[in-house]
Amino acid sequence: PTRETLVVAIDGPSGSGKSTVARRVAAALGLRYLDTGAMYRAVTWWALEQGVDLADTERVAALAREIPLRMGQDPRAPAVAVAGTDIAAAIRTSRISAAVSAVATNLGVRAELVSRQQAVAREGGVVIEGRDITTVVAPDAPVRVLLTAHEDVRLARRAREVHGSDDADAVDATRDQVVRRDADDSTVASFHQAADGVDVVDSSLLSLDETVDAVLGLVEKRAGVR
Ligand code: DC
Repeated sequence: PTRETLVVAIDGPSGSGKSTVARRVAAALGLRYLDTGAMYRAVTWWALEQGVDLADTERVAALAREIPLRMGQDPRAPAVAVAGTDIAAAIRTSRISAAVSAVATNLGVRAELVSRQQAVAREGGVVIEGRDITTVVAPDAPVRVLLTAHEDVRLARRAREVHGSDDADAVDATRDQVVRRDADDSTVASFHQAADGVDVVDSSLLSLDETVDAVLGLVEKRAGVR
């Protein structure tokens, strides 16, 4: 593949650093960037905005099919907009984080969002990041990476992100949410183990720069693109 046709698929659990790494890789190679988790968050935001009960799977799936969602694909400024409203910040609130698993486990929602993500993959020239990209969305991508990190490392990173600290209290406050969300997410996409042919990058002992370099190395090795 060339840069124009290349698809880089990156999966990993929350706190593995995959969003930051995926954006950096895309920027380094001049590729577009798609954050699929943001799409599940956007549907969650839209459903809550409309007062739809998230347990009503039919209605939420219908909303996913109708949502006027625009995913900006600039890795340096990934925009998310619904009907022209910028929701990039709104989808990162704890209210959305707490509710999103109910939407991400809705199979009707997944069918719709996976099909939108596959349309982006077909265009090529993109780094796509999520939970089921290496296995479901783009199983034929030339570069497929599972980004992992030990649980305590992931918790500390998330605590710094959410609470601005990784002291014991902040980590405890983060633990419940992260562990529960991983457990919920695992019911639809198994991202703790690499599927056949997927390269694993464990970022536990790596800096951000080293992790980005490791993924760029795989892009060169697997796709000959650098
Ligand atoms: O990566 P994130 O925290 O923004 O993901 C939000 C939610 O969506 C999380 O519960 C995992 C889920 N998700 C998914 O099921 N499949 C994807 N491809 C991406 C995210």
